[in-house]
Amino acid sequence: MSKEEKELRKDELDLVQRIVKRMNVLVYASLFIVLVAMFNIMAPDTAERWFGETEKEALPEEVVAAISDDLIENGIHVKTGLIVDDGFNQVKATCLACHSAKLVTQNRADREGWKKMIRWMQETQNLWDLGQNEDIILDYLAKNYAPEDKGRRAPLKNIEWYTLED
Ligand code: HEC
Repeated sequence: MSKEEKELRKDELDLVQRIVKRMNVLVYASLFIVLVAMFNIMAPDTAERWFGETEKEALPEEVVAAISDDLIENGIHVKTGLIVDDGFNQVKATCLACHSAKLVTQNRADREGWKKMIRWMQETQNLWDLGQNEDIILDYLAKNYAPEDKGRRAPLKNIEWYTLED
C-alpha cells in the first residue's frame, strides 16, 4: 500500500468511527424514549406528576376583575383609583396615556386650576388638543377633584343642635 493509500484509508476509518459515535447517541436517545414510554404506561400517576402539566390555580374573582379593568368599589375604579362619574371614560382614556392616575387623584384644583395644568402639559409635555373632550374632562376634574375645603360634600348648614341627656 502506498503512503497516500494508507492516509486515505485512515481518513475513511475516521469517518466510519465518527458515524458509529453518532449512531450511539441515536441508540441512547431511543432507549431513553422507550424507557419514558414504559414509565408512562406502568406508572401513569407518577409520570403525570413528574411530566404532566400542573393545573394552574384559579385567581380570586376580585383579582381577575381588577386585572380585567372592571372592578368598581364604592364608586372608585379599583385599578386606577379614579372616581367613577360622568367623564370617567374620557379621563381614563386621555389622562393615563403618559403617567399614572396618581398624579390626577393626588391633585386638587378648581376648574381654572385644572385648565391651567392641562395648558401647562400642552405647552411643555406634548399633551394634545383635547377638543370637545376638554369640557367633559374639566367638568369631571372640577367636580371630583376639587380643593378639599370645597369638596364633594356640601358643607352642613342649618344644623339643629341638641343636648345629650342621660
Ligand atoms: C402627553 C402626555 C400627558 C398626558 C396625555 C397627560 N399628562 Fe399630565 N403630565 C405629563 C407630564 C410629563 C407630567 C409631569 C410628570 C412629572 O412631573 O413627573 C404631568 C403632570 C401632571 C400633573 C401634576 C402637575 C403638577 O403640578 O405636579 C397632573 C395633575 C396631571 N399631569 C394631570 C393630567 C390630566 C388631568 C390629564 C388628562 C387631561 C393628563 N395629565 C394627561 C404628561 C401628560
